Amino acid sequence: MCGIVGHLGPKNSVDVVLEGLKRLEYRGYDSAGVSFISSSNDLMMYKKKGKIENLINEIKDKDISARSCIGHTRWATHGGVTDNNAHPHICEEMGIAMVHNGIIENAGELREFLTKEGIQFKSETDSETFLGLLIYHVRNGKNIKDAVIESFKKIHGFSAFVVLNKETSEIFSIKKGAPLVCGMNEVNSEVLVSSDPYALAGIADKIYFPEDEVLCHLSAANSNLLNFYELDGTKSKRYMSKKQSMTHDPAAKGDFEHYMLKEIYEQPELIRSLTQFYFQGEGKESLEAAVDLPRKNLHISACGTAYYAGLVIKDFFEQINRIPCRPEIASEFRYRNPILDKEDLALFISQSGETADTLAAQELCKKSGLKSLSIVNTEGSTLYRDCDVNLLIRAGVEIGVASTKAFTQQVLTGRTLSAVIQNKGMDDNLRNTLSQKYTLLAERIEELLDRSDEIKAVAGEIYRNKGFFYTGRGVYYPIALEGALKLKEIAYVHAEGYAAGELKHGPIALIDEEKVNVALVGPELYEKTVSNIQEIKARKGKIVTIGPEGKKDLEEISDYYIPINFDGLEELSPLYINVVNQLLAYHIAKFLGTDIDKPRNLAKSVTVE
Ligand code: AGP
Repeated sequence: MCGIVGHLGPKNSVDVVLEGLKRLEYRGYDSAGVSFISSSNDLMMYKKKGKIENLINEIKDKDISARSCIGHTRWATHGGVTDNNAHPHICEEMGIAMVHNGIIENAGELREFLTKEGIQFKSETDSETFLGLLIYHVRNGKNIKDAVIESFKKIHGFSAFVVLNKETSEIFSIKKGAPLVCGMNEVNSEVLVSSDPYALAGIADKIYFPEDEVLCHLSAANSNLLNFYELDGTKSKRYMSKKQSMTHDPAAKGDFEHYMLKEIYEQPELIRSLTQFYFQGEGKESLEAAVDLPRKNLHISACGTAYYAGLVIKDFFEQINRIPCRPEIASEFRYRNPILDKEDLALFISQSGETADTLAAQELCKKSGLKSLSIVNTEGSTLYRDCDVNLLIRAGVEIGVASTKAFTQQVLTGRTLSAVIQNKGMDDNLRNTLSQKYTLLAERIEELLDRSDEIKAVAGEIYRNKGFFYTGRGVYYPIALEGALKLKEIAYVHAEGYAAGELKHGPIALIDEEKVNVALVGPELYEKTVSNIQEIKARKGKIVTIGPEGKKDLEEISDYYIPINFDGLEELSPLYINVVNQLLAYHIAKFLGTDIDKPRNLAKSVTVE
């Protein structure tokens, strides 16, 4: 999704904004731009399609000494990837520049009205409509602050806007349903705004999370650099603030070639810190609060990898707690008029906490009177602020677009909640039991990470194949779905996750010597799963088996057999089988030479429908 960074302060704002935009590259984009007020008080604007480097090359010999700047990385929704469609959009005559994240759903009718009012558009984007509204309102006598408010009131859909005003060198920002945070460093008299707190790390020592429809006013002219207003112009208190906890570069790659690989290897340590957080640390309270929520039925709503984590969590709640669970893809759930009971619990799983479909599903449940619980990574995100109770997954910043460590932490957080509900609270016995299991899980994953070369060798044998079926039964079925998604995302290889028993109902027609079956075999339903593998082998499919160690029959039917130690940890085995899939996808993508951390067409957080 689009990245936004704005800065006011004594040091060069353009450098600060460009650094912030670079930190948001992981979110995916196709063009970048900046607008700033030059030392000669001119409103400057540079924007280029492609990587931020193109923009930097464009401005490197220009005078960019500025004290106020806004910048943007665009992930195209309306209008092609061109310099013209990149942000910022500016009106030199009025000295106004603006950037946007989201979709203006009524852009067509607004554009028609504004064109009739004599306003000319230079791009194909919906975003420029907001600039047209600003021009319209200023022409009709409004000052820039009121023009921003009046323009924002006309917008339908989820959006965040940031406006730079040359006349007073101030920045205004406002949002609804899209991410926006402000930051401040009073000592340095700096004030910032961004779509992601990570862009402010190391600069702002305090961050602010304004709620929807709160106007943020960044001004070096004021004694207090940052003010918040309601749409009626009165001061607003609808924002949360906290010390900036992120260090300057929390996600440095270190010795790893890719962020994704680093994040795969972080998992054992994160499991240990999650254990500490919920069993000894500040997570205990949120866990207790979650246990007290009503849960006649559990509706689980999420997207992508988070949804697959929800499918695994469903298994815990149905098998351990015997609570009926209904996991559903958020983009379906939000439009199908679901049957909801006020005594039901709505669980939302999200790494970013900003996924538009998941947020809309949460809003639907809230309007229906349900209590909402999140399993979320980003503290202060929109989902975090909208839910009644939040269970943080403590995965740290996840830079790789393909989610890895977040999935593990989401599932484990769900497992912890299930256990505490079953135990009717956390006590020393449960704490010790779970701590031992999670410690063993971390060790098992470490053992698998040490076998990366073995998995790489398998990847080297199959990366040229043209179609992959990941199969599993029971709780391994969602792991098959997640394993297929990883391969699709980073290697651009067609892969499908399938319930092992379902392949014979049609898809087996696709099996030939070109296809690979990555068969996930657990101890339960073992014989049935092996016979499903036989069905594929009989049709010349190449078999990669990830299953219990020491199985002669698996060795005989597999072209490649990756034996796993399940002893004493069967219930969490989906998580370490999943790590094998993460490494398999990573190595296949490496052989294929794709952009592993920033795969084509993808965004880290999909903040539009
Ligand atoms: C996962 O690898 C993908 N990047 C994608 O499916 C992601 O899980 C999905 O967009 C949900 O994102 P969220 O967890 O931030 O809500």
